[in-house]
Amino acid sequence: MSEPWVKMVTAQTPTNIAVIKYWGKRDETLILPVNDSISITLDPAHLCTTTTVAVSPSFVQDRMWLNGKEISLSGGRYQNCLREIRARACDIEDKERGIKISKKDWEKLHVHIASYNNFPTAAGLASSAAGFACLVFALAKLMNAKEDNSELSAIARQGSGSACRSLFGGFVKWNMGKVEDGSDSLAIQVVDEKHWHDLVIIIAVDLQTIHSFAISWRNNSFFCDKLEIRGQRCIVSSREKETSSTTGMHETVETSLLLQHRAKEIVPKRIVQMEMSIKNRDFASFAHLTCADSNQFHAVCLDTCPPIFYMNDTSHRIISCVEKWNRSEGTPQVAYTFDAGPNAVLIAHNRKAAAQLLQKLLFYFPPNSDTQLNSYVLGDKSILKDAGIEDLKDVEALPPPSEIKDAARYKGDVSYFICTRPGRGPVLLSDESQALLSPETGLPK
Ligand code: DP6
Repeated sequence: MSEPWVKMVTAQTPTNIAVIKYWGKRDETLILPVNDSISITLDPAHLCTTTTVAVSPSFVQDRMWLNGKEISLSGGRYQNCLREIRARACDIEDKERGIKISKKDWEKLHVHIASYNNFPTAAGLASSAAGFACLVFALAKLMNAKEDNSELSAIARQGSGSACRSLFGGFVKWNMGKVEDGSDSLAIQVVDEKHWHDLVIIIAVDLQTIHSFAISWRNNSFFCDKLEIRGQRCIVSSREKETSSTTGMHETVETSLLLQHRAKEIVPKRIVQMEMSIKNRDFASFAHLTCADSNQFHAVCLDTCPPIFYMNDTSHRIISCVEKWNRSEGTPQVAYTFDAGPNAVLIAHNRKAAAQLLQKLLFYFPPNSDTQLNSYVLGDKSILKDAGIEDLKDVEALPPPSEIKDAARYKGDVSYFICTRPGRGPVLLSDESQALLSPETGLPK
């Protein structure tokens, strides 16, 4: 290893949205949850993290760049992931380039990590999930670790709980596990992304979120906020205070009796029902469970002392729109779910329901007059076409949904919509042009 070579791997990992929520830890260091959870992996074409990891004898310390800016790796969560992966490193040999690293060399060698999210303006969309999953997956491949994705998920879990579910595509279950060392607290795939491929997911990104993002981005704490602000409340918006999920769930565990009831009595039954409705593609049952679980998660937040409010007026308006529509149809067309923020994640039964949903959403939340439709509906734009909407004139001309009496419109209250679908799990990117680090220097390109 006398030559100054650089060996690299680049991976892409999706984000996920929980339909049965993880909220509350029984062990805060190992990140062990108080209940099982289930999520849908979102199509990485629209929401994902790309990470390049590199090793070289010329590197003097472990370093990481997030969206081009160097960040500290000193936080406990990064250190735990790095330590666990290093412990599983195996020999590698690149005969062509004359590179040989033995298992014990990995303890002395340093790594460079560069990570990039393809959804830079959509804070609150589980960026830490895709981020830690991608970090662990890419390092495992670089270091030739033999563990399967479930075993890797138990390491990603130690970066951020929800990250463990991003190691698979389709629908994914995080088993809370029983043992003290957390080795059985890992993710498994329920079904792959092809199983229920006609589902369409529309995310309404809230204006307030964008504002928060601008601040956390400036402080370079995006997705590392998991590390920097533990135990404190942080200001993420100039208008009001918000609570990170880590801090929020800590306070819930400390103070909410409703959480204990949820974890012990409600979630175990819901998990069984949810798995069944996914396997049977039973949308009515799926929608009922998804909405109920999101609402109970927010009820548990309200039951926390001091209470935590993640949803805002726009979130409540979207819930009301979906509830009224589902009721008027007699059978659910759309399910809604909200994480630790105001963004609505709406899951439509099929393309027809998604097109109708988009019409309703654009009726209630038309873009500001200076916004192009093209930058207002992102992701899979073919849903716009199905909805018969080509330009802002079509949005203006949308009729009020027949199931409502109050036809008020809330122009500009949503920043944009992302149309997406269930997606695949992590992949390696073999095309070197997609690497975020230079193959010569191992520094960001
Ligand atoms: C509301 O995984 O962000 O999104 O484990 O402390 O990093 P830490 O929390 P995080 O919590 C996610 C909570 C949630 C629900 C879910 O994804 O299941």
